[in-house]
Amino acid sequence: MIAVTYFVVVLSAALAGAQTATSSASSFKITAEISLDDYWNEMVGPVSVAAVNTTVSPTPVASSELIPPPTLHYPAFPTGQEIPAMSKNESWKFPKDFWWGVSSAAYQVEGAVKDEGRGPSIWDVLTHRATNYVSLNETGDIADNQYYLYKQDIARIAALGVKVYSFSISWSRVFPFGSGQVNEQALRHYDDVIQSCYDAGVEPALTLYHWDLPLGLMNKYNGWLDEQIVDDFVAYAEVAFKRWGQKVQKWYTVNEPIVFCQEYPYPVGYWKSTSIAPKDQQFYCGHHVLLAHARAYHLAKSLGVKGTVAFKNNGGYKIPLTNSSADAEAVQRAWDFNEGWFADPIYLTGDYPATVKEHVSSLGLKFTDEQKRMIKGTADHFAHDAYTSQFYMAPDDGLESCISNSSNPLYPSCANTTYTYPAVDGGWNATDWVPQFLRYIQQKWKPKGGIVVSEFGFSEPFEALKTIRADIQFDFVRSQYYHDYMRAILMAIAEGTNVVGCLAWSLVDNLEWAQGYTVKFGMQYVNLTTQERYYKASFFEYVNAFKVYQEK
Ligand SMILES: *[C@@H]1O[C@H](CO)[C@@H](O)[C@H](O)[C@H]1NC(C)=O
Ligand SMILES: *[C@@H]1O[C@H](CO)[C@@H](O)[C@H](O)[C@H]1NC(C)=O
Ligand SMILES: *[C@@H]1O[C@H](CO)[C@@H](O)[C@H](O)[C@H]1NC(C)=O
Ligand SMILES: *[C@@H]1O[C@H](CO)[C@@H](O)[C@H](O)[C@H]1NC(C)=O
Ligand SMILES: *[C@@H]1O[C@H](CO)[C@@H](O)[C@H](O)[C@H]1NC(C)=O
Ligand SMILES: *[C@@H]1O[C@H](CO)[C@@H](O)[C@H](O)[C@H]1NC(C)=O
Ligand SMILES: *[C@@H]1O[C@H](CO)[C@@H](O)[C@H](O)[C@H]1NC(C)=O
Ligand SMILES: *[C@@H]1O[C@H](CO)[C@@H](O)[C@H](O)[C@H]1NC(C)=O
Repeated sequence: MIAVTYFVVVLSAALAGAQTATSSASSFKITAEISLDDYWNEMVGPVSVAAVNTTVSPTPVASSELIPPPTLHYPAFPTGQEIPAMSKNESWKFPKDFWWGVSSAAYQVEGAVKDEGRGPSIWDVLTHRATNYVSLNETGDIADNQYYLYKQDIARIAALGVKVYSFSISWSRVFPFGSGQVNEQALRHYDDVIQSCYDAGVEPALTLYHWDLPLGLMNKYNGWLDEQIVDDFVAYAEVAFKRWGQKVQKWYTVNEPIVFCQEYPYPVGYWKSTSIAPKDQQFYCGHHVLLAHARAYHLAKSLGVKGTVAFKNNGGYKIPLTNSSADAEAVQRAWDFNEGWFADPIYLTGDYPATVKEHVSSLGLKFTDEQKRMIKGTADHFAHDAYTSQFYMAPDDGLESCISNSSNPLYPSCANTTYTYPAVDGGWNATDWVPQFLRYIQQKWKPKGGIVVSEFGFSEPFEALKTIRADIQFDFVRSQYYHDYMRAILMAIAEGTNVVGCLAWSLVDNLEWAQGYTVKFGMQYVNLTTQERYYKASFFEYVNAFKVYQEK
């Protein structure tokens, strides 16, 4: 139990909207103190709770689990030969200090959403209140119950020899309302998660923000749309750095700002309203993310935080659909408005790419020279979440007509995109685009400290429809993806690209945001009825790449 925490909240559209979802509610405004419990009740309502609600000691992983699950349609491999022999390419190797692991994010796996003083995040509202926002109205209330089962999850990571576990801290556990009073119980929880990793021989990597914005900050000032978030994020980062900065060696400030900024505009009627036009919101968000990240980076350095600090960028490799100069220009605009939006300021200039800068400054968002100096150089390596690749091309009516027409659906990037293969098939074969992509990152952004492929993974088509466990565990297409992807990284290293680490997404099946549990990225199946975990074949495929290719 947490001592009752009170929060001074401006109850305007937020509170009434949460109850009635009417837009006229913004006409009243009162200031009141509200307890955390009442805040939950008003904003989210009842949540589901798991049968297991205390930390569970790990049970040893049976040796019978440490071999790949059998294929379905062929005889099982003879005992001791479960990993098919493969010819080793002697030109390939992972250096001894190449680090690799698996990843997750707080809201997607933790569950226990109201426990031990956690405050609501926007995702509690999106899952509970926003009409038809999440497939099948699924929530993260229980998810994989990792809040209580982390010791077992860490034991299962360690049992396969995985080196790193990358997870995120829930901001609204640490600050139930996003700012103000710190919840010591949450800090003690993560103390133990971190210590359990080290005890098991697994290195923790921490991400401070993986999309679960404290609802308090959304209701107070619309979260990332307002510059106030910078101070609040830095205050949160300070608590984390002071608590774990001498212990944890791998830090990420924010995860995939392109994605969470493009989540704006959020469905209206559930929080404070804003006068910023829907199409412009992502750029306000991005502007404040860059300032928040940069200040947190400098704070970490001034506090003597050990190890690396970076942020996780994301996006697919961009290939021009045709040889036309218009498509080449569209590809460049696509780089600018995606990766470059965050990578140019941080790795190159302290400021946006020219195309983005032109647009963003038209909104009145400009970095001062001092801010540019502060932003530049604030990442110790280039962390990139790279799942697939896509073709890009100019809009139907041409680039110029789009660039001068803010009503064009593709404005302002004005880069159109298509997959040649359906996205569900994973787009391209990884061996074709991954080495090119990693080389592009190295040449374009010249990151000190090399490149980390900080997420990659595959959602196997129709997996959610499978009902037989042996069928689920034999994830042939995902295994093929990891097989190819690992070779692609090896090829990149062989041709001189400085890739220093990789993190597979994901440790377990989990809440895939608005797609609920219907889309699965796990290398372990989780039976959500029993919360039992089972390794899928792909996990062994991933691990095997290091058995074969990592220098001892
Ligand atoms: C934990 O679960 C048990 C039963 O499963 C229940 O009796 C108890 O009230 C729960 N504790 C909390 C703090 O929710
Ligand atoms: C989700 O909830 C909404 C009401 O909030 C309801 O209209 C809808 O049918 C539900 N969807 C499913 C798949 O249950
Ligand atoms: C693009 O150029 C290459 C040679 O550089 C040529 O082989 C190919 O046919 C061209 N493709 C298109 C779509 O024009
Ligand atoms: C983008 O490309 C698709 C085809 O993939 C096309 O249907 C659509 O009209 C294009 N959009 C614009 C704005 O050019
Ligand atoms: C701007 O784009 C919109 C949406 O595509 C279109 O309806 C409109 O005609 C365009 N205006 C001009 C001047 O081209
Ligand atoms: C991808 O390409 C590699 C190398 O050519 C090949 O070994 C692998 O089977 C291909 N994967 C798929 C899914 O086609
Ligand atoms: C999940 O567990 C339940 C309860 O034990 C069981 O009935 C069900 O068959 C399991 N699902 C799978 C796919 O194994
Ligand atoms: C072995 O690796 C080298 C360097 O990446 C590559 O050029 C070659 O095609 C690979 N050989 C095989 C058989 O995959």
